[in-house]
Amino acid sequence: MTQDELKALVGQAAIAHVQPGSVIGVGTGSTVNCFIDALARMPERIRGAVSSSEQSSARLRAHGIEVLDANGVEALAVYIDGADEIDHQGNMIKGGGAALTREKIVADLSARFICIADESKLVDTLGRFPLPIEVIPMAAAQIARRLAALGGEPVLRAGVVTDNGGHIIDVRGLRITDPTAMEREINQWPGVVSVGIFARNKARVCLLGTPQGVRTMTF
Ligand code: A5P
Repeated sequence: MTQDELKALVGQAAIAHVQPGSVIGVGTGSTVNCFIDALARMPERIRGAVSSSEQSSARLRAHGIEVLDANGVEALAVYIDGADEIDHQGNMIKGGGAALTREKIVADLSARFICIADESKLVDTLGRFPLPIEVIPMAAAQIARRLAALGGEPVLRAGVVTDNGGHIIDVRGLRITDPTAMEREINQWPGVVSVGIFARNKARVCLLGTPQGVRTMTF
């Protein structure tokens, strides 16, 4: 099976976690695109979605699914999103698509984070994928110095401005053995909008696409 087929498999499998008529949280990325396409094929539609990016909002609307403002929603039952890496405890690195801040906001509104990923995303220790951090542009150089002091190699993502007007620093070379502690530490630096470690609010379920089928991991 190709990676695209594995993404389509888990995108479809996530539909079992969606209540017809409900409002759900929808993430960003190529795996989520498969999920959005599967949502459009549901015989009984959802009422709407809170989306984590302009990209996903456009795809939802193209399928006739209403996109709701996060401020008008008190709580969501589920948030369905991909990941750049996920470990065996459900901690994730996200933000490869630069949508990490809105992803954290929608995940925070949601009772359950369901991660959909092909098996290449499963790792023992987070950090092989460069860690994305959204920053306020004027703080980028100081934050990069702090990241270098932690042992990372920070690089500003060229030409990228997020949906919120922020910049993205990608950090290579970090071995994230304590994701919760590193998320907390980086989060408190002035000028950090959000860090792409999802440990405080990690996945509760991961639907992992493998050539043998969907492997369900719960945390
Ligand atoms: C978006 O900012 C990321 O957090 C995505 O969830 C992540 O990049 C996964 O994308 P793919 O499904 O395209 O691999």
